[in-house]
Amino acid sequence: MKEITLQTQITACTVDELDAELRQLVEIAKQKTQDAYCPYSHFHVGAAALLNDGTIITGANQENAAYPSGICAERTVLFAANANHPHTPVKALAIACYTNGHFTKQAGTPCGACRQVMLETEHRYGQDMQVILYGEEGCYVFHKATDLLPLSFVSDNLKGD
Ligand code: THU
Repeated sequence: MKEITLQTQITACTVDELDAELRQLVEIAKQKTQDAYCPYSHFHVGAAALLNDGTIITGANQENAAYPSGICAERTVLFAANANHPHTPVKALAIACYTNGHFTKQAGTPCGACRQVMLETEHRYGQDMQVILYGEEGCYVFHKATDLLPLSFVSDNLKGD
């Protein structure tokens, strides 16, 4: 028997310390929180995906009276990006959360289902996707989606090796 330590290195920074491209992506994600349809949770999530060709795809969470039929901002954006630009990798995804009249102090952390979809996007294009989580007190930058979901289930697992 042995213990295994899993390590993930992420960057903690202020929004001003991000490079101009990522700062703009965060600003767009923040703006998109205002387009959330969240009459049940009142928790507004905005997301913005930057594609390799510079295209930016945006979205927000969409809730439903039948609760499980709703979908998170991250999946709204990634599915839209992948469906409309199937051959263009996503190089970065920014996320911001807003509730009770202000952006969350802590960086908003994506749910497990969204992490799984981020991972599939990264694998699909064979290219790292940066994930920037915005919080009023600071941002977290994950250098690749895989870092959000260690020991994850990917297509290779289906081979049974
Ligand atoms: N939500 C997201 O949009 N992204 C996440 O990663 C976590 C949660 C949404 C879903 C729901 O509309 C609301 O936030 C409260 O859970």
